[in-house]
Parts: sequence; C-alpha cells; structure tokens
Amino acid sequence: MTIFIAGGTSGIGYALARHYLSKGYCVGICGRDLTKISEKNDENLKAFQADVSDMNAVLSTLHSFLVDKNGLNIFINCAGSYAEDVAGRISYDEAEEMLQTNILGTVNCFEAARKVMKNQKKGSIAVIASVSGILEYENSSLYTKTKRSVLQIADAYRRALKPFGISVTAIAPGYIDTEKLRQLNQNDLRKKPFLTDVETAVSIISEAIEKQKKLIIFPSKMKWMMKSLSLLPSSLLNIIMFRKAKWMKND
Ligand SMILES: NC(=O)c1ccc[n+]([C@@H]2O[C@H](COP(=O)([O-])OP(=O)(O)OC[C@H]3O[C@@H](n4cnc5c(N)ncnc54)[C@H](OP(=O)(O)O)[C@@H]3O)[C@@H](O)[C@H]2O)c1
Repeated sequence: MTIFIAGGTSGIGYALARHYLSKGYCVGICGRDLTKISEKNDENLKAFQADVSDMNAVLSTLHSFLVDKNGLNIFINCAGSYAEDVAGRISYDEAEEMLQTNILGTVNCFEAARKVMKNQKKGSIAVIASVSGILEYENSSLYTKTKRSVLQIADAYRRALKPFGISVTAIAPGYIDTEKLRQLNQNDLRKKPFLTDVETAVSIISEAIEKQKKLIIFPSKMKWMMKSLSLLPSSLLNIIMFRKAKWMKND
C-alpha cells in the first residue's frame, strides 16, 4: 500500500504516518518544516518540503514520491492552520495563513490526488476538518468557518470523484491532544471537553478511511453534543457558542 500525507511533519499527520509505517506500507509526507520530524530513519518513509497552498509544489512532490511506485492508495490531507482567534483576536498574517492552508490547500490536495488517482480508477482521499465546522452559527471563528468550508469542499469532490472509483472521507475530530493544541493553550487542556489521545484518533481515522466512510465525527460524546446543539434555534445557539468561546479564553 502507498500512502501520502500532506501535513505529516507533526501531530495527527505524523502519527498517521507512523501507524501506516508500522504496517509496512510506503509513506510519503510533506510539510513546510522538515526539521520537526523526529524519526527519519525508516526506509519506507519519504519526507518532502512542500506548502499545500502552492499547487505546483504539491503536484510535483506527489509525482516525485510516486516515481518508483505502482500507484497511490490513500491521500490524507492533515495540513491545517489554527490560531487563537476567539472573539476576533487574530492578526492579518494568521488569517491569511489559515485561509491559504485550510481552503486553498484543501482544494490543491484534492486536485493533486485526483490527477493521480483518476488514471488508476481507484483510491481514497481523506481530509481533516474539525467538529467545530459541523455547526452553522453566525459567531463562529474564522478557523471554524474555514473548517466548515473544508467539509463542503469534501462533499463537492466526493460527488465529482465517485464515478472514478475514488472515495472521499471527511474527518471531523473534537479536541486531540497534540503538541500544537498544547502550545496554543499554554499546556493547559482542562477546558477542552472530551479530549482524545492521538493514538485513539489515528485508529478512528484509519478505520474510517479503510471503510470509505463519507464523514466521521468523533469522539462520540462530542458528536452527540453537536447533534443536540444543532436542534437549537440559531439565535440561542449563537449566544451559547459565543459564551463558551469566551469562557474557554477566561474572558
Ligand atoms: N488537535 C486538535 O485538537 C484538532 C482538532 C480538530 C481538527 N484538527 C485539525 O487536524 C489537523 C492537524 O492538527 P494537529 O493538531 O496535528 O496540528 P499540527 O501538529 O500543527 O499539524 C499540522 C500539520 O500541517 C502542516 N502544515 C501546516 N500548514 C501547512 C502548509 N501551508 N503546507 C504544508 N503543510 C502545512 C504542519 O507542518 P509544517 O509546520 O511543517 O508545515 C503539520 O505537519 C489540522 O488540520 C487541524 O486543524 C486538530
């Protein structure tokens, strides 16, 4: 099996790479900063420096990875940019990076994967969105709005790629205990409900891709909380979610 993971230099993407390597698969990863990779001595792992917001870079990286391989089975896009943008506290640079990586990067990854998989008439593409993108409410952060877009982009590609035998799985996780989440919260994750460890996340994500699920929302307690909240009138949902965001930031 041949797997490519965009945004595989740390966190969920890197943990997924280790999971597939442990099964003996050939794994390619990309990110902007290869110095983050702790374990480089696996002959089945190839790491490439590439920014997902650059379409040519993603495509040429994928071609370089596949040059001596017999096709691509799975492409997973884990590349994502998130910042503490609660209540509008976000810089222009952070906003630009979030839009470039989360939206343009998502489209670029779908395009690169589909160019390769269309000829082979099979393959699985997965993208990591976020549970925060499940709910529609006015006061959501820019990050949440980009992740809602990721879910919608995945829907569009799922429909377009189905005739070519290519499946699309959208992943909507709740809080996952990664270095990045810890950095953004000064190592204090007490206010992150239903926190999931990375190993559990990897097992849920890889199973969803294997079963070619359309959408996976986890952990299940978070999924049911979101389903319940979605039944509320939008004005009430807006107030609850805004207060929750401010409570999380101690405002
Ligand atoms: N952790 C959570 O609680 C949580 C919850 C829901 C959803 N998510 C989503 O899950 C994904 C992974 O999050 P994580 O917590 O594992 O964070 P992370 O460790 O920061 O992982 C993000 C990965 O994306 C790469 N990346 C970022 N911008 C990129 C770009 N423009 N081009 C190429 N690679 C890029 C990073 O590598 P470089 O820095 O080397 O580029 C890194 O490998 C993100 O999409 C995030 O939004 C996370």
